[in-house]
Amino acid sequence: MAKYKIAVIPGDGTGPEVINEGLKVLKAASKKFGFNYKEEVFDYGGERYLKTGETITDKELDNLKKFDCIYLGAIGHPDVKPGILEQGILLKTRFGLDQYINLRPVKLYNPEFCPLKDKKPEDIDFVVIRENSEGLYKGMGEFREKGTKNEVAIQLSYNTRNGVERCIRYAFEYCRKRNKRKKLTLCGKTNVLTYAWDLWQRTFDEVKTEYPDIQTDYAHVDATTMWFVKNPEWFDVIVTDNMFGDIITDLGAMIQGGLGIAAGGNINPNGVSMFEPIGGSAPKYTGKHVINPLAAICALGMLLENVGEEKAALAIENSVITIVTTKLKSLAAGKMGYSTEEVGDLVVKNL
Ligand code: IPM
Ligand code: MN
Repeated sequence: MAKYKIAVIPGDGTGPEVINEGLKVLKAASKKFGFNYKEEVFDYGGERYLKTGETITDKELDNLKKFDCIYLGAIGHPDVKPGILEQGILLKTRFGLDQYINLRPVKLYNPEFCPLKDKKPEDIDFVVIRENSEGLYKGMGEFREKGTKNEVAIQLSYNTRNGVERCIRYAFEYCRKRNKRKKLTLCGKTNVLTYAWDLWQRTFDEVKTEYPDIQTDYAHVDATTMWFVKNPEWFDVIVTDNMFGDIITDLGAMIQGGLGIAAGGNINPNGVSMFEPIGGSAPKYTGKHVINPLAAICALGMLLENVGEEKAALAIENSVITIVTTKLKSLAAGKMGYSTEEVGDLVVKNL
């Protein structure tokens, strides 16, 4: 019997191409490290939506609970109005499976691919823990007098004590387990968002008394973006809310070399987690064999670490480091010096 049941959602655009390379690496890793698995592919995405009008149904979501983890390519289709697939598939899955942590490592492998001057791999090595189930993403709000000159649009940030606390606790535990600089930075906006960030700050201050071994720090989100560029070496683990986490991790992706390499995990520590490259479906590159599969391959590494195949995860990361430092000319689509498939093959060869 297969040890792991993996749900695969290749999704839209270049999603299927990068997932193919990831599955190639998974196959090779399973042989090398002696674990077996069974994958089942689901066609959720823009094409299916255009044909059937369905995003992901409640029953399909329920079915995903039977798996050990989910491997996602990308969601987003140029012919579908923005928001439908994002909310109907991606956010519905994150919320429906209570994947309340979005874990996004920011790690520079090759300084040549860093847009910042004089930054070395040891300077850019931190992890953003983004709350993934509440905040502005909750979709709460209303229009008043819609379409009139007096229109008001209200969008609420919804923060529960339980939701904030479980995220902060996860961050402290993660920081301790990571065992690097043992520093946790709360990234918020206490000077303006005086309800939400008062709760975050109070919760953080309470929980931190249980972690005397972890150094703590606070930075406003705007200042955080400045430090990402100026002094990224200050960060070890950052914990923040859903919206701020969304924004700062795109900047994080850029300083680690771009969306071609940035991966993340939507984690339910007690349930089914989902791993994905954090970039989009990049439809203009579809079928051109130029998209960088490394973000998807790194997401696979995170998936394997999550299910307990730490050795395989480490081998994948080391293989990625090898080819990023010795082979690829760039991490950008079309500029790697290799095709999508060749990059996947290189990762397999260096496992
Ligand atoms: C991300 C994406 C999503 C988000 C979009 C596609 C809904 O930007 O994973 O960061 O905002 O969370
Ligand atoms: Mn984003």
